[in-house]
Amino acid sequence: MKRFIITLVVLCVVVIAGVGVFIVSGVYNIGADAHHTRPVYALMQALRERSIEHHAQGIVVPKLDDPQLILKGAGQYAAMCTGCHLAPGMAENEMRPGLYPKPPQLSKFRPDPREAFWVIKHGIKMSAMPAWGASHDDATIWSMVAFLQKLPDLSPAQYKDIVAKAPPDEDMDMHGDADHHPDAAEHQP
Ligand code: HEC
Repeated sequence: MKRFIITLVVLCVVVIAGVGVFIVSGVYNIGADAHHTRPVYALMQALRERSIEHHAQGIVVPKLDDPQLILKGAGQYAAMCTGCHLAPGMAENEMRPGLYPKPPQLSKFRPDPREAFWVIKHGIKMSAMPAWGASHDDATIWSMVAFLQKLPDLSPAQYKDIVAKAPPDEDMDMHGDADHHPDAAEHQP
């Protein structure tokens, strides 16, 4: 028994030292174009899915079918999300092929409202998905969630239409370029 414990401790020390040498050596390729092996990717996917499910479970979903809420969410989505997640009628852009993990096309499925709220608010570590909660209150994030429930039903023309009618994304003023945004420009006084 004692021998077994000593062997185990030595093994642990060797593994920790090995990992340390590996990290310090710099041979690991951190490039986004050097994809994970299948087992590593599957492991990270499982970690991500379980984490989101666990953290989202207590969230209380408000009423999401309010047309004003959906309209507000459309404006938010058009201003902040299409570069990565696209929208009906939008072709691939120059950024998405290089993103890893690849952002899903949110017009292709309806994410669970609780999980969508949690992901939008907190983001996803070591991916391109930002934590929008750092700059948006819960009510604004729920408007995006409400819009995502509608998005898969929209044709390119309907998408364009709802975005044109949406209130401007006031948070855009932070960047000082609201005047130059083609969709926001129509709403400027
Ligand atoms: C810079 C790129 C980027 C931007 C901008 C971005 N996202 Fe994401 N988003 C991602 C990536 C990448 C993932 C997937 C991460 C992963 O798979 O681990 C993701 C995942 C998500 C998911 C989870 C989808 C699922 O699989 O269930 C939702 C919901 C989401 N984003 C909503 C939004 C919304 C709403 C906005 C705009 C406010 C937004 N994202 C802006 C990159 C982005």
